[in-house]
Amino acid sequence: MRVLVAGGAGYIGSVVTAALLSGGHEVTVLDDLSTGHADAVPEGATFVQASLHDSAPVLADVRPEAVLHFAAKSLVGVSQTQPEDYWHTNVGGSLALLEAMRAVDCRRIVFSSTAATYGEPESVPITEDAPTRPTNTYGASKLAVDHMLTSYAVAHRFAAVSLRYFNVAGAGFGLGERHATETHLIPIALQVAAGTREAITVFGEDYPTPDGTCIRDYVHVLDLADAHLLALPAPAPGEHRVYNLGNGTGFSVQQVVDAVREVTGHPVPVVVGARRAGDPAQLVASSARIRADLGWAPQHAELTTMVRDAWELSRPAGR
Ligand code: UFG
Repeated sequence: MRVLVAGGAGYIGSVVTAALLSGGHEVTVLDDLSTGHADAVPEGATFVQASLHDSAPVLADVRPEAVLHFAAKSLVGVSQTQPEDYWHTNVGGSLALLEAMRAVDCRRIVFSSTAATYGEPESVPITEDAPTRPTNTYGASKLAVDHMLTSYAVAHRFAAVSLRYFNVAGAGFGLGERHATETHLIPIALQVAAGTREAITVFGEDYPTPDGTCIRDYVHVLDLADAHLLALPAPAPGEHRVYNLGNGTGFSVQQVVDAVREVTGHPVPVVVGARRAGDPAQLVASSARIRADLGWAPQHAELTTMVRDAWELSRPAGR
């Protein structure tokens, strides 16, 4: 299939681009490089530097049969202090992209949604029927696009899938996480192991969990890539499907730090800090729906596998 990957120079978008190429798809990456890296675009893909707001001429030129949409701002904290950027890029940009698609009669899309659309869960594991009450602008902006896709499916016969990622980790195809502003637990702990950071601050150890630290559901980026390839052909015109993507198993911050110690052999010093605003105690996905509908089965569910794959790619020589 001829596909356009918006945000294909970022972490998840670049890995999925590589998976699409190895599956025989023809890929054009559209990315404004605001957070992505041109050298992350896999060889074999055509790269066009443009923002979502300027995507119409690109789609007119490429004439894709489907779009995979990863392009977004994704820092929860910044979304609270600069919400305008999140509404502009994530919502305004997505609207521009959908209109650019409609203009060339391309109506198939897989969208990167997030567990942050649910907010503080009433119960875990979280199913797709759980209430969506985001606690930050990032989650609200992603939820707005999910709603946009539902209405485009109904009104304009789009075939759409929203994949709600939980905590993505690991590396694949020689590509991994490389953020200028790193906020995620595993890459930060690996920076400590690599010697570029002194210690990791654990945000709170007084949560109602067995060891007092927050529990999250980590999913390997290669398993995520598999889900995208399965989701791409799945919906019929007029259909918008929503799937959670996680392993259904939670690991605490303490367990993640322990896994990083085990994999890297570094002591990874920890400082206990205050809770981070807006962090739910526990976020664990039920991925029963995508397993049942599409036969998705994660192949790299071990926490140490995710940590090891990320470490192999990022570790400095000699460590
Ligand atoms: N944490 C620390 N110290 C750090 C960084 C993180 O203790 O230096 C903790 C957090 O408090 C949290 C856990 O590690 O309990 C995981 O934090 P991340 O920032 O790695 O990931 P989040 O769970 O906050 O966020 C992820 C995605 C978001 C998405 C969210 C959905 O990265 O994009 O899940 O709930 F919005």
